[in-house]
Amino acid sequence: TERTYIMIKPDGVQRGYVGEIIARFERKGNVLKGLKTFQCPKAVAEEHYQDLSEKPFFGDLVEYICSGPVVCMVWEGPGVVKSARKMIGATNPLESEPGTIRGDLGAFYALVGRNVIHGSDSNESAEREIALWFGGDDELVDWTPTITPWTRE
Ligand code: GTP
Ligand code: MG
Repeated sequence: TERTYIMIKPDGVQRGYVGEIIARFERKGNVLKGLKTFQCPKAVAEEHYQDLSEKPFFGDLVEYICSGPVVCMVWEGPGVVKSARKMIGATNPLESEPGTIRGDLGAFYALVGRNVIHGSDSNESAEREIALWFGGDDELVDWTPTITPWTRE
């Protein structure tokens, strides 16, 4: 099954949205394979956002991600990369739809540089990011919920 890397950014943690965000992913029927709080070192944030290293906001972005604890998660489910991006909403909280995480939780401040959550944009990114943020398979648990026969055709 597909996996994705989801991270609650420092503003989401400070604003007390950890439980709300986890609940949304659970309700959607995804399975939590890994979870931890983490104080991100600069090098990890730089590697995570390496594709944006030429952008003028790159320095601020790295500083933001390292500005307080983040919550790192691996969620598994059919089509989870795409469905998570849909649940998260547009990058800019001003443009994210109501019902999405950024639309509901990020809109109050409406800052693209304070948008609460990260989600991988492809399967390749997901695997790269899981390897970057989690120390190895001993930090992840391979399990199947006992209700699975009732939630899959
Ligand atoms: P992530 O899930 O965090 O990867 O967001 P995204 O995929 O919706 O957007 P993208 O990968 O293009 O940008 C990564 C992050 O950089 C965004 O989530 C923002 O936090 C930040 N960012 C993007 N554009 C801007 C910008 O114009 N200004 C600032 N300050 N930050 C930006
Ligand atoms: Mg991105």
